[in-house]
Amino acid sequence: MGFNKKTVEDVEVHGKVVLLRTDYNVPIDAAGRITDAFRVTRSVPTIQYLLSHGAQKVVIVSHLGRPEGRINSRLSLAPVAAVLKNELPSVNVVFANFLPGVMGDGSEFLANMTATPVGSVVMLENLRFNPGEEQNSEEFARSLVQVTGADIFVQDGFAVLHRESATTNAITRLLPSVAGLLVIREVSALQQAIYNPVRPFLSINGGAKISDKIGVLEKLMEVSEGMLIGGAMANTFLQYSGLNVGASKVELGQGATLNAIYAAKTARNVQLLVPKDVAVVREIAPNAKVDIKSVSAVGSHDIIVDIGPRTAELFTSMIHEANTIFWNGTLGITEYAQFSSGSRAVAEAIGYKRNGLTIIGGGDTAGFVRSLMLSNRNLDYSLISTGGGVTLDFIASKPLPGLAGLQDR
Ligand code: 3PG
Repeated sequence: MGFNKKTVEDVEVHGKVVLLRTDYNVPIDAAGRITDAFRVTRSVPTIQYLLSHGAQKVVIVSHLGRPEGRINSRLSLAPVAAVLKNELPSVNVVFANFLPGVMGDGSEFLANMTATPVGSVVMLENLRFNPGEEQNSEEFARSLVQVTGADIFVQDGFAVLHRESATTNAITRLLPSVAGLLVIREVSALQQAIYNPVRPFLSINGGAKISDKIGVLEKLMEVSEGMLIGGAMANTFLQYSGLNVGASKVELGQGATLNAIYAAKTARNVQLLVPKDVAVVREIAPNAKVDIKSVSAVGSHDIIVDIGPRTAELFTSMIHEANTIFWNGTLGITEYAQFSSGSRAVAEAIGYKRNGLTIIGGGDTAGFVRSLMLSNRNLDYSLISTGGGVTLDFIASKPLPGLAGLQDR
């Protein structure tokens, strides 16, 4: 299975006004500052591609947060436009304080569009200020096309492909619609891992809940040779095997899912590894005393906060042998440095590999890995995903409306 949608490379963009959907849903602190601009940085290659291939204008549309169809100045895309300007110093990047139907006057916007020179990037205000975006409204999509004069639609918001909205779905019925470079890169890597992996394929799964990831774990059980489990999710596995996890976080009512996972493990002979030793504390605090215990020795007041060193070593040796790796979910409470050892060991083992396809799922895992990369330039991964829920939906074979609407090859 290859990437079977048309892309920016399949269409003529010279002289065209391109409507570009990105995912600039970035974290913002209380003071309104962007704390992580990864998604903005990752959008740059497609913008540069479009401009270097002669696009007349690139009009960027995105969402930020969940304003639920109402204007919310704290969720304005203006700070994102400022970051994009820094990323594209030689490009005229204009933030239009405008969104059809809710903000500003279309005629004023049109006058501004005409006044901006060829080769400019124009960013509209947060799409989700208009309820039509999340309602997948064709009327809202049409208003975006009309007011911008767009000739072609490029979908590059990988992280939003799982949402059915005006700028992932309805719009594809109104304009020739193709994929951008980020969407191609992320979807192709996931397709290769899930549908055509170089074996052995190892998945590493962490984070809090099994229930959020049932479809993902089931699929990974179907397609991989090895599955490593860490994070709070591992506590539920340990308890299921009859072990005491003390005062650790566990998820109740997962018996049926775990039965299915263990049945699949046996049927396909998948190597499923849960922690053999763990780091425990009596309270979750930055200076808490950390003890390493075998999983059979966890006391009733212990809280598991990380995998232990023996487990990290076992995980590392599996990583060395794998040719395809997908990691989603940190293996301890990585907000605290002293509960991050297991995740760090795994991130380094993957990052030092110089063979195979290595994919870091989005969200916390991607943030953790990128923070390590700041001080260690030797770490390298095939893909650090910008996705969150979309990556899990892709693996669980759920529909991706943002991809489905794009033109087939
Ligand atoms: C994300 O951050 O995962 C995407 O931007 C989708 O955001 P949503 O979960 O608010 O739809």
